[in-house]
Amino acid sequence: MKKDFLSLSDWTREDLDKIFELTRELKQKQKQGQRHHQLAGQTLGMLFEKSSTRTRVSFEVGMFQLGGHALFLSSGTTQMGRGEPIQDTGRVMSRYVDGIMIRTFSQELVEDLARFSTIPIINGLTDMYHPCQLMADLFTVIEHKGSYEGQVFCWIGDGNNMANSWINAAAVFGFELRVATPAGYEPETGVCERAEQAGAKVLYTNDPFEAARGADVLNTDVWASMGQEEEQEKRKQAFAGFQINREIVEVADAECIVLHCLPAHRDEEITDEVIEGGHSVVFDEAENRLHVQKAIMVTLMQ
Ligand code: CP
Ligand code: NVA
Repeated sequence: MKKDFLSLSDWTREDLDKIFELTRELKQKQKQGQRHHQLAGQTLGMLFEKSSTRTRVSFEVGMFQLGGHALFLSSGTTQMGRGEPIQDTGRVMSRYVDGIMIRTFSQELVEDLARFSTIPIINGLTDMYHPCQLMADLFTVIEHKGSYEGQVFCWIGDGNNMANSWINAAAVFGFELRVATPAGYEPETGVCERAEQAGAKVLYTNDPFEAARGADVLNTDVWASMGQEEEQEKRKQAFAGFQINREIVEVADAECIVLHCLPAHRDEEITDEVIEGGHSVVFDEAENRLHVQKAIMVTLMQ
């Protein structure tokens, strides 16, 4: 049966750990210039209804390095943007390509696409989740800390797609997570409830210092995500005090690392000083999108 990559909670820890092992192997091969054409002759369709730098480039380059090919398709230049039903898009694309990565608004649309397609579907970000980013983030933690096990993770900022994905990750991998958001900007209730039922250890607070104290991994994201641009000014006020800055880093563990999925708004959710400072691993994190997504594609498509 085909497998999709729509949300971390559809996967077991054991299977995700295998993806990390494969990531390590593929990254080493890439660095040593060894050929690894596991997806020779295969094509990935990339459907975008939102902007992207990292996701588009890392998937396209990743397919090339695996010996395959990637097609960039934006909603503005395909029939998707003119309202062709997703079930038809899924069935037609399944006749041409070997896998689809989609970035869009609705998680339900991605799930419908998966249901009507006979090929693997990868979630390249929805309003609800960003699972590929989470895999790159955790792989970066493994590289810098040896393991995700025993680390205390801290999220400061919006209860958005990234925060929801961290909560899923806490449920799947069993690590301690603390989430600090302003009141009214908490993560999805359904995501929190399902994670709790699955045994996740998550502290929810409106105090960023409570979340950051002694933490090993600090993490944030923009205050207004794609699609929320008109709320930018209102959010700036609501999120004042939820910035990763020197004061926050000082209460975290002395050896803490700082993650940000990027793009960042410097001196809003994170200071320029911290993102450029010694705790920041954001460019390793961005690079790891490439390696981890290659492992995801090989796992699903080979
Ligand atoms: N982090 C991330 O997904 O970046 P892009 O929006 O540039 O793809
Ligand atoms: N939360 C951000 C992530 C961008 C990679 C957004 O959805 O715009």
